[in-house]
Amino acid sequence: KPQPRVEALLAKMTLEEKVGQMAQVTLDVVTQGPNAYESDEPLKLNIDLVREAILTHKVGSILNTANNRARPLEKWHEVIGQIQQVAVRESRLGIPVIYGIDAIHGATYTSEATFFPQQIGLAATWNRDLVRKCAAIAAYETRASAIPWNFSPVLDLGRDPRFPRMWETFGEDVMLASEMGVQMVKGYQGEDVSAPGQVAATLKHFLGYSVPASGKDRTPVHISEVELRERHLPAFKAAVDAGAKSVMINSGLINGTPVHANKALLTDLLKKELGFTGVVVTDWKDIDNLHFRDRVAATRKEAVKIAVNAGIDMAMIPYDFDFCKDLVALVREGEVPMSRIDDAVTRILTLKYDLGLFDQPTPRGDYEDFGSEETVATARKAAGESITLLKNQGLLPLSRGVKVLVTGPNAHTMRALNGGWSYSWQGEKVEEFANEYQTILEAIKAQAGEELVTFEPGVTYVESGKYWEEEAADFRAVLDAASNSDVVVLCLGENSYTEKPGDLHDLSLSQNQVRLTRALATTGKPIVLVLNEGRPRLISEIEPDVDAVVQTYLPGNYGGEALAQVLFGELNPSGKLPYTYPMFANTLVTYDHKPSEEQDKMEGVYDYESDFAVQYPFGHGLSYTSFAYKDLTLSDDQLDTDEELTVSVTVTNVGDRAGKEVVQLFIADAYASLSPDVKRLRGFEKISLEPGQSKTVRFSIHARQLAFVGKDLRWTVEKGTYEVQISNLKKQFELSDSYKWQEVDPVL
Ligand code: IFM
Repeated sequence: KPQPRVEALLAKMTLEEKVGQMAQVTLDVVTQGPNAYESDEPLKLNIDLVREAILTHKVGSILNTANNRARPLEKWHEVIGQIQQVAVRESRLGIPVIYGIDAIHGATYTSEATFFPQQIGLAATWNRDLVRKCAAIAAYETRASAIPWNFSPVLDLGRDPRFPRMWETFGEDVMLASEMGVQMVKGYQGEDVSAPGQVAATLKHFLGYSVPASGKDRTPVHISEVELRERHLPAFKAAVDAGAKSVMINSGLINGTPVHANKALLTDLLKKELGFTGVVVTDWKDIDNLHFRDRVAATRKEAVKIAVNAGIDMAMIPYDFDFCKDLVALVREGEVPMSRIDDAVTRILTLKYDLGLFDQPTPRGDYEDFGSEETVATARKAAGESITLLKNQGLLPLSRGVKVLVTGPNAHTMRALNGGWSYSWQGEKVEEFANEYQTILEAIKAQAGEELVTFEPGVTYVESGKYWEEEAADFRAVLDAASNSDVVVLCLGENSYTEKPGDLHDLSLSQNQVRLTRALATTGKPIVLVLNEGRPRLISEIEPDVDAVVQTYLPGNYGGEALAQVLFGELNPSGKLPYTYPMFANTLVTYDHKPSEEQDKMEGVYDYESDFAVQYPFGHGLSYTSFAYKDLTLSDDQLDTDEELTVSVTVTNVGDRAGKEVVQLFIADAYASLSPDVKRLRGFEKISLEPGQSKTVRFSIHARQLAFVGKDLRWTVEKGTYEVQISNLKKQFELSDSYKWQEVDPVL
């Protein structure tokens, strides 16, 4: 039931005013001249255009993507203040505009913001509190510019490393993504989303966006209803239950139907079954795409009808103001029911009230904690805890006094450390604001002493057309430098990208980078391979040539420093892979696969060498100390349907330095009516241990946590034998009964 204030306001609104609330235009529409916003010119509103949008067409929302040039906080406050003045003071009903932004790893559209690791790196910390804290700071620094709505977090699963937005996810696992998603929502929205430091979260991109068959962005997804519900839905459900205020829709097709046209997904599943009461917003131009790209609507007007009737509340970038005219006409013609418009507008106005925009459209807090020491310390901690040591043949940590060659295209770039959605969509403007931060090279110099460090990139990223490409030098200078050094720090990976521009034809590391590694290997010098990449590029060709491998993901502005601390042992690495690092192009298999993926392991079935090979497994990450696991204990070896089982294990730091460990609990179902996953993550806890210290970690497992989605689409728990696995310890228990719950209608 709508709040009384919303109900009262809705009752006063004309159809045109209601429909206008459902339109979200870019800042470009109200700035000086076409594409002014995308240019490097000073940002300047055209107040006549602001009036045209808000007063004539009654537009209710504006967004900008990270643009081509970051602006100071003050500038944003001024621009949004001017927009709100028109909306609140000059419009008939004084309804404030809701302004939205992609501040996905900090308030990355402002020149002063603090940048955190991208989501894939946050997932690698496996640290719930830290993730919530990063989100809370990002919210604070975003609201400081009077922007109350963030298009984050991404709750699509990173299950296909070919997908160019893998780094925007929390990785492949359902539980990890669900838990981290909830923390992000809590951090963004706080207890009271109207408070000066909070923003509304957006769960995106509902649903099944990240697993296109081709691996390329916005290409068709084929998925079963079981898979959709069991893997892709739970993170969204958990975040909806945590109170998330908005949801953005998957731009693509699922089984041939555009999600923006799918009433069963948007209305029946999201709004009814999950009980989502917030705003459903399209992705960029996606109503138009129903006509121009997906061709399920013969005209733009028909596209509007299909999308709004499917359950869309707000159109991000409607083709132009004709969207409003078309929607008004559709209502008058009886093609879109008035009740649908009222539902959409109720949701939008409720969000505006919840955010406190009616009371204070542009709050003028002092925001004195913006960029504070604690804020920066949190960003550093997150970068440090994300770094994942994948291989170490006794080379790391490096000894003080060694002569280091730093090489590779990722060694001296802040852009690659930050990734996309950093100041600009593709992250290309990062270097302009990079002065106060250290690249990997600069951080290693600061750690090792400038005189001991040589730099020869070997391969560099260069601007090319809209995006970038690689340029390789001849490697003589690199090889000379290597022969005069004790150790090589080889920094490989990718430059920044997001969405379509990040599509790949080949997941392998580039041939330039492979050749550079091969050449360096001929010198016989020990090599630390530092990976700085948004997705696991295949390294199996070169991995045997290197002595250590460190994954940094996209660690943000403090990633260079954190890495140097890890290399020289000031920081003990504790990150764990949030995805399976594949070995070959044909082994893109997640850890929670079906037993038939491992047929070669079944004795007597096949005799040939395994094709099922991973470079590094999900959850893997080494430390400079060692942890011993013992005493895996179950409170019972029987579990009844409505009971909980306590699982405990004791972990001891048996090395000689303090360290952090992520205790991961997996459970395997022996037999089920649908082929069970070989194992599933069912609990995790990050702990710190001093040398010699032990801790006992306890997990509670309810029978319901063992459920899968059955053929009849009901969550199902089946009696039988289950195996608990923590590290290399295993124990079994019996579940006494089978049961099912939640009757649902198919949505695909
Ligand atoms: O939020 C994004 C989305 O993830 C991709 N398309 C554009 C949106 C708004 O910038």
